[in-house]
Amino acid sequence: MVEKRETHAPCSGTRAVHAGEERGHWGQSLTVPIAQTSTYVFEDSRAVKAFVAGENRQIDYGRYGNPTQNVAECKLAELEGAEAGILFASGMSAVTTTLLGMLSSGQHAVIMDDCYRKTAQFCEMVLRKFRIETTFVHAGDYDSLEGAIRDETRVIISESPTNPHLNVIDLEKLVQIAKKHRVKTIIDSTFATPFNQRPLEFGVDLVIHSATKYLGGHNDLMAGVVLGNAPLIGAIRDYRGILGGVIDPHCAYLLIRGIKTFPLRMGRQNETALRLARFLEQHERVKRVYYPGLECHPHHDVAQAQMRGFGGLVSFDLDADEAGTLSFIDRLQIPRIGASLGGVESLVSHPASISYYELAREDRLAIGIADELVRYAVGIEDAEDIIFDIGRALDEG
Ligand SMILES: Cc1ncc(COP(=O)(O)O)c(C=O)c1O
Repeated sequence: MVEKRETHAPCSGTRAVHAGEERGHWGQSLTVPIAQTSTYVFEDSRAVKAFVAGENRQIDYGRYGNPTQNVAECKLAELEGAEAGILFASGMSAVTTTLLGMLSSGQHAVIMDDCYRKTAQFCEMVLRKFRIETTFVHAGDYDSLEGAIRDETRVIISESPTNPHLNVIDLEKLVQIAKKHRVKTIIDSTFATPFNQRPLEFGVDLVIHSATKYLGGHNDLMAGVVLGNAPLIGAIRDYRGILGGVIDPHCAYLLIRGIKTFPLRMGRQNETALRLARFLEQHERVKRVYYPGLECHPHHDVAQAQMRGFGGLVSFDLDADEAGTLSFIDRLQIPRIGASLGGVESLVSHPASISYYELAREDRLAIGIADELVRYAVGIEDAEDIIFDIGRALDEG
């Protein structure tokens, strides 16, 4: 007799397809209906009174929620192993609303230097205006991290892996330090996704994803999500209702559709990126490869211990100057030049020219954004084709 399986693997294909969905949608539709509405109505005035008294769970207005969006939030919460999740109109909306919700004037946050440029700018330009200070520490330097914590520190926020050098934070160590000082931890896990890493299992308080990337997966939507325990997510939900960064119902549907194939894509992107990293590692025109799946990566052991796969992004320094690097990028035929990642189409970027163009050269060199640094985000094209294309572009230089 076949034993009945009660549970599925944490971020399995089965969960990605079915989690968060009731059996039998409206009109017996197989797919999740798009509730394309801004407003929800009440049967009579008594229903309004019951609603404001918290006696029914109806939604009243689209900025506070939407049935299509609710399915996407529940699906993502199950994949991440979270009690609750909340969706936003972009990853940046998720980051900014969360930090504004958790920090007050006079408080302080610690953040890693190797992080998404706009997150750093939000700290330097926006939080500072509200007298919320941030200290940047080098990703992986736990003494500096602990040393940066003050009485007023409320939050430590980091990506893992980080952008673009793919540093991997030791989540156990991070949580240990944070708990000792009663500080909350937030991991932006965009580059890992719940397929490769589940930070909540290590005691991290909140996980953020730019769902624009692997979760949506088709380079055709913008979304962000925050996941964690219900009280924290509830508090952030109140801030979203005020700040207004809500995802629209059609976009929530596209995200649900993307999530259904996400484990398939992620498994393939993990494999292709590892093969690409190994190819680049032995190529004479490549000076250094940043990929946590390589034994030479400084955080390989941590990555091996806490990740299931190492993601679809490979960064590398060419043995070339800036002009040589740009002409290498222009010789590539498969990836388009673009600043995003995680979709079915491969994308390549030159961080010095795009994400960091407004930094003075010495400032960007100080954080490792070299003239010869290339960021390659693999799509789902065949690994052989991607490697052939890159090999040709290197050899022709
Ligand atoms: C690690 C990381 N976090 C957050 C964001 C912001 O997400 P979005 O572009 O969806 O606003 C990005 C965007 O590239 C990112 O790479």
